[in-house]
Amino acid sequence: MTQTRRGFLRNVGIAGGAGVMFNTMGALGLSPAASAETPPFTPLDRSGLQRHGRKKVIVMGGGIAGLTTAYELLKGGYSVTVLEGRNRPGGRNWTVRGGDTHTDLNGRTQRARFSRDQYMNAGPGRIPQMHVTIDYCRELGVPIEVFTNQNADAFLYRENVPGALNGVPVRQRAVKADAYGYTAELLAKATDQGALDAELTPEDKEALISYLRSFGAINSANEYVGGGRRGYDPQPGAHLEAGTPLPQYDISDLFRSTLGNYFSFEMGFDQAMMMFQPVGGMDRIAYALAAAVGIRNVRYNAEIVEYRNTTDGVEVLYRGPEGTRKVSGDFAVNTMPPHIAARIPSNLPAEVVTALGSVSKTNAGKIGIEYERRWWEEDFRIYGGITNANTNVGNVWHPSYGYNGRRGTMIGYYNTGANANFYGALTPEQRFREAVTQGKKIFGDVYGEKVHSHFSQDWASAKFSEAAWVGWPSAVGGQTGAGYQSLLGPTANIYFAGDHLSHAIAWQHGAMTSARATVAQIHERVMA
Ligand code: ALA
Repeated sequence: MTQTRRGFLRNVGIAGGAGVMFNTMGALGLSPAASAETPPFTPLDRSGLQRHGRKKVIVMGGGIAGLTTAYELLKGGYSVTVLEGRNRPGGRNWTVRGGDTHTDLNGRTQRARFSRDQYMNAGPGRIPQMHVTIDYCRELGVPIEVFTNQNADAFLYRENVPGALNGVPVRQRAVKADAYGYTAELLAKATDQGALDAELTPEDKEALISYLRSFGAINSANEYVGGGRRGYDPQPGAHLEAGTPLPQYDISDLFRSTLGNYFSFEMGFDQAMMMFQPVGGMDRIAYALAAAVGIRNVRYNAEIVEYRNTTDGVEVLYRGPEGTRKVSGDFAVNTMPPHIAARIPSNLPAEVVTALGSVSKTNAGKIGIEYERRWWEEDFRIYGGITNANTNVGNVWHPSYGYNGRRGTMIGYYNTGANANFYGALTPEQRFREAVTQGKKIFGDVYGEKVHSHFSQDWASAKFSEAAWVGWPSAVGGQTGAGYQSLLGPTANIYFAGDHLSHAIAWQHGAMTSARATVAQIHERVMA
């Protein structure tokens, strides 16, 4: 029996492990011999401790990267001190609950008045199932539940678009059925009329048309005539009630509205259902990590004011409730946002400081609105998921917890860039009023009724963050540039970690995998 190339690789992989397989792939010309791939992470054990003595690592920042760094180093018997400026773990992983107060860099203070069991995830709110975040939830005993990222019954809303769908809230299922249906109709007709004869054999054409029948629900004449996929009024019920499908939108109105363009979102590798969230709030991950690291190893309210390499280690100065203190260690892992790390005094070489400061910042904003009635469920039958609009709110999140309960907290906007900056410039009360004005366009007056409380977050003006996430501009070479690459290894005894040093920026997965890579580097150095 001849062996296929893939079968051969699979066998090499089984016999020799991933490293052998990767080198073999290089030899076969299937991938670059010099790999950018992170080697698989092996958690540390304490076997190196006696030979090399106990090493101490100062972790700068108690967000997800910092806590993961400390957590993984502790497994190897390292001594760690985490310095965190805020009074809580997690950084951007922040769940706002009743009683929480927050003062932003513009001096605006909000106090959350959410009811018991109500919360908003001001930062991360969803976890793809292939992310290591899920593995940490398992390891730390943090229960997870489904986060509904895509709901056929949620709405889409587009205004200032041509055609009859301008300013009309529509159900996602209706748009999707029509967009798929009309696309299938046109492609099936073109195929039948010979437009694809140069591309496809007669058998291929038949197979394509069979696919389009199922994709777009077109009839035997290759016509899309709507149907139950897009929804009913009334819907099927007892006895003779067969239901009446809602009439489809006009093809020209549909495509010109751009509504159908939304469905590429659910095809995103990191945005596809199923998605998950910790039961009770995203910060359950941060608190579980902090508990595993141990309260004696974390100093809160510790604002780093200076850090430096010394001849045989590191020194970090921080300002805390007892004044300015200094801690020393063998190594430091700097997980602060790079734009903040860049301006804190240090003896890092100028080019490293320049690299840290070369990121581009993205803002994001969210408002949580607690209602005394779950009207989106009761009146609209939307159970979780996202309503998307091309207005300044961007995305409205229907909560994926507490279904059919008495109260519920919607995310009235989750937006980025200019829209986030627009809301960020307003007072919390103005933000709420604007969100309600926009929300009413989609859901009507109910959007402003039975409101219990609201809380909004603007990440650009959040102390210790000053952005929602960062990117690496092409002007500095992006993530292949010298600046980015200079942060992937140590500068003497100072290492760097965070989602900004990953290809999963703006995900906890990026923070965690970056932390793991740094832990592996430190341990390899210590063991050498
Ligand atoms: N990871 C962030 C999100 O899912 C950007 O919205």
